[in-house]
Amino acid sequence: MSIIRVLPEILSNKIAAGEVVERPASVVKELVENAIDAGSRRILVEIEQGGRKLIRVSDNGHGMGRDDALLSLERYATSKILQEPDLFSIRTLGFRGEALPSIASVSRFTLITREKDADSGTRIEVAGGRMNNVSDAGAPAGTMIRVAGLFYNTPARRKFLKSVNTEMGHIADTIASMALCRPEIQFRLVHNNRTVKNWAQAADPTDRVADVLGRVIKKDLLPVQRDNEDVQVSGWVAAARLSRSTARGVYLFVNGRWVKDRVIQHALFAGYSGRLMKGRYPVAVLFLQVPFDQVDVNVHPTKHEIRLARQKSVHDTVRDAVAGALRQSDPTRWRAPDAENIDPATTRVAEKESRDKYKSMPNPGGGDTPAASTNISRPLFPSPEKGSRVADRPDLRPSVEPATADLRSARGAPVQQEPLWKRSFFSDLSVIGQYKGTYIICESGEGLLLIDQHAAHERVVYEQLKRQADGQRPSSQRLLMPETIDLGFREAQILEKVAPEMDRYGLEIEPFGGNTFVVKAVPTLLDSSEIPAMITQLVEKTAEIGVAAEMASILDGCLMVMACHNAVRAHQQLSDVQIKAMLVQLDACDNPSHCPHGRPIWIQWSVKELEKQFQRIVA
Ligand SMILES: Nc1ncnc2c1ncn2[C@@H]1O[C@H](COP(=O)(O)OP(=O)(O)OP(=O)(O)O)[C@@H](O)[C@H]1O
Ligand SMILES: [Mg+2]
Repeated sequence: MSIIRVLPEILSNKIAAGEVVERPASVVKELVENAIDAGSRRILVEIEQGGRKLIRVSDNGHGMGRDDALLSLERYATSKILQEPDLFSIRTLGFRGEALPSIASVSRFTLITREKDADSGTRIEVAGGRMNNVSDAGAPAGTMIRVAGLFYNTPARRKFLKSVNTEMGHIADTIASMALCRPEIQFRLVHNNRTVKNWAQAADPTDRVADVLGRVIKKDLLPVQRDNEDVQVSGWVAAARLSRSTARGVYLFVNGRWVKDRVIQHALFAGYSGRLMKGRYPVAVLFLQVPFDQVDVNVHPTKHEIRLARQKSVHDTVRDAVAGALRQSDPTRWRAPDAENIDPATTRVAEKESRDKYKSMPNPGGGDTPAASTNISRPLFPSPEKGSRVADRPDLRPSVEPATADLRSARGAPVQQEPLWKRSFFSDLSVIGQYKGTYIICESGEGLLLIDQHAAHERVVYEQLKRQADGQRPSSQRLLMPETIDLGFREAQILEKVAPEMDRYGLEIEPFGGNTFVVKAVPTLLDSSEIPAMITQLVEKTAEIGVAAEMASILDGCLMVMACHNAVRAHQQLSDVQIKAMLVQLDACDNPSHCPHGRPIWIQWSVKELEKQFQRIVA
């Protein structure tokens, strides 16, 4: 006798519910999705006891006639797709015809629905998947679904429900995500008869974003926009300083669907690269529009995951879109000018001006000023204070070339004295002093600034090394006594992989047999006494990033290590000249706001803020 049986429908629905309905928030998600697909403009979600007792979703969408209402509770019954090819052109949020029968199989379920022009509506009652009653019902146009006693007939699942607060948190997040994507719809969330959220219809999508993410964030949202044939990216990212410790401020949508996609998330982080500290998450709302046949939405029971056909292109476009948007937040004076707007002669004048300013600075040591030196390999600080490690460091010297600039442009026209873009924010600061040998206190036209000297110098060294490598001219110094490094077996394997790539930074490392390596040359920017510790950390960093990761990200990690090892430390006294040199170099950086690990380099208090703090003005 055969032992394989086809399961009764109630049981198979219950099994499907195991995947589709994880917790009350999943019910809310499915019901609200249906309401959106039905063209609703108002959606009311009422919850009692975190959804354990009751979930009711009412909408003013197109409703259903009696036949459709009955069919909607059948498994695989859907109005949203007809045939196989439709699976690859899905424009609606639902498509499987699974949600309603699944939910109805694990709850006491009531559906009341009426089409706009129908005289009366339909009421259907189901308990644990069994239909108990179908009748006419007076009802407003639209649909109301009531789900009581969720998991009442699957006690094992009911046990897994968390506290009311936790479940409400998930429900609120779910509605927030849908509200972000559909500003034209009003969403109201009521818990135990109290309105928790009411997002009114918003003509301007930014208003909805501000409503959902918080009003204070509105002014810090940077618009994202980038299109190509594979994807259109739009939305907002918030400045990196508003980062959070969880991913709850990240909302990603593909073709109107809220998704949790690792590729897009990775691209978002890559766009923030160098601005976020490890373990921090940005606040971002990104909408991707991908050709329907380029995305498979049918890969996960909760429809949260998708598969993109052109993953790489989508990834890179999102990354560039985010990075581009964040650059807008850098004050104008730091923004790299459009290539076509740069007048090379003007640029040289700007450099010369900064050099001249530098020359006229008092020189406490009495020797040559750094600017007077045109030889790259000469030490920066001509007459350093004793014991100052920075003092021998060429990297703290302003990286200016000899004054080759002609004061006339290439076309022979007189050159404007004012540069087209001003990169002298930091060099224009007046330095008040150093606090705890760690922070540089400065005054700007706008207020008071504290600069973290280690973070600032780390950024300077990082960008200088990167620029040198990009320009294929690593300036390195041969070590008189090559440094020998012994590593463990695993570490040696890692270094063997990375070492040949380090050449481009002027760091020459060769295998010396077994697990031993010799370092023959180091970039001139680097301090040779740091070599052994730095190499060990390079290896650790590579292991942390993953040896199989893309070489570009491994190299970036290595650059960060080099920069960190060779930057001035906290608790290190700097002379005025050294501080000034560092400020000049910060002006030359592309991202003078964050160290390569994403820590902020400086913080500022405006005069107004200070006056408020001292209660000189009323808030
Ligand atoms: N609020 C609603 N207003 C109008 N029609 C609805 C509503 N909810 C469900 N329906 C109809 O019932 C059908 C079944 O809904 P159900 O959610 O079970 O499946 P689906 O939305 O088609 O697919 P999925 O299982 O992916 O959500 C829908 O295709 C739709 O035609
Ligand atoms: Mg549905």
